Amino acid sequence: MEEKLKQVKQKLDKYGQEQLLDAYNRITDEKGKQDFLDSILTIDFNQANELYESSKQKPSFANSKIEPIDYTDKSKLSKEEYEELKAIGTKKIKEGKLAVVTMAGGQGTRLGHSGPKGTFDLGLNSHKPIFEILTDTMNEGRKEYGADIPWYIMTSEENNKETEEFFKKNDFFGYPENLITFFKQGKLPMLSTDGKILVDEKGKIKEAADGHGGIFGSMLKDGVIYDMKARGIEWIFIGGVDNVLVKPIDPIVIGLAEKKKVLAVGKSLVKANPKEKVGVFCKRDGKPSVIEYTEISDEMAEETDENGELKYGESHILCNLFNIKAVDKISQMKLPYHIAFKKAKYIDKDGNLVTPTEPNAYKFEAFLFDAFESLDDMAILRVKREEEFAPVKNAEGVDSPDTARKLYTDFHSRK
Ligand code: UTP
Repeated sequence: MEEKLKQVKQKLDKYGQEQLLDAYNRITDEKGKQDFLDSILTIDFNQANELYESSKQKPSFANSKIEPIDYTDKSKLSKEEYEELKAIGTKKIKEGKLAVVTMAGGQGTRLGHSGPKGTFDLGLNSHKPIFEILTDTMNEGRKEYGADIPWYIMTSEENNKETEEFFKKNDFFGYPENLITFFKQGKLPMLSTDGKILVDEKGKIKEAADGHGGIFGSMLKDGVIYDMKARGIEWIFIGGVDNVLVKPIDPIVIGLAEKKKVLAVGKSLVKANPKEKVGVFCKRDGKPSVIEYTEISDEMAEETDENGELKYGESHILCNLFNIKAVDKISQMKLPYHIAFKKAKYIDKDGNLVTPTEPNAYKFEAFLFDAFESLDDMAILRVKREEEFAPVKNAEGVDSPDTARKLYTDFHSRK
């Protein structure tokens, strides 16, 4: 213990994070002290300092060359094209080459539900929670193709236990238990505006999930990629937990990837209007990418092609298909971290709980779409909003339980 404490002190001293010793000194039980020292030893202080330095730099988009990217409109495929893609994709699904990953590690702060977002009751007559709605879709696909489709659910440190218990309590909503795997995404310390690692309400290091882009590294670290390879998986659909119309088992998207010989396909929706606050697919310096609404000029956002369609009109909806080779490659790369300035409760150096009314802390998140640039090419498949996109983001108004419930019931009454 003495030795460990010495090691920790040296580390904190080296990286200017001695304030963490105040929190250590306040812990009264031996186990708590030991755990706290262990958690300090797992922190990558070099990375924390680098992240802090990056918070001082302004993002610069000016130098990259942005161009529109080609897309395929699912609804405009000819019957022959559609049947061809469907046959290719169906064969792959039936051969057990598809796996699905659901990202459920987010905090869902906008929705404000107290548990994991997947446990939220959407307000259907059946009162099915979001996880059950997604499991229904998974079960339908599994039955339709008569195939075992492994389903991986990414949770975070904060919500992992509750998520696993929810599935167990509900007998995995009828999905074969041996096909479901939970894995936890990574986390990063939150920093004060002067670069100090914060301590949370429980006296522990204040950490937050490292963003949906953390998925690739976590899939490697937690053995998910290894498991997929052992099962002979070739294609992986990755989507968020909060789209209740998600179509994860879709032969067309696999068929398109195979036909175009690309390692990824992003599903897109046509932008509702040029000013809609969504990221859109594009080419950046010749590579597939997403340009965020904060990056695009009004002029570019309004540009149209010869058919009168927006040149930058394919919005990214976090519904993407990747080949295992792409996931393998990306998992070994470092994606950049984006900085969010958040309100974060913490314990100050005198042991008092501070509840800020204004943002006070930096949170660092990797974005999944930053991975696209590492691929030489990817295909974009435009799908229909009313068929594949009903997000639950906000407590009310746009993209809320009310709008998602309506989209969901309308879609299912048309089926
Ligand atoms: P959002 O960006 O909408 O974030 O996540 P969120 O955490 O769910 O909600 P807010 O912003 O706090 O209100 C899009 C998808 O990515 C997942 C979410 O669970 C959701 O399915 N996600 C996000 C993760 O799995 N991990 C993260 O670190 C962030």
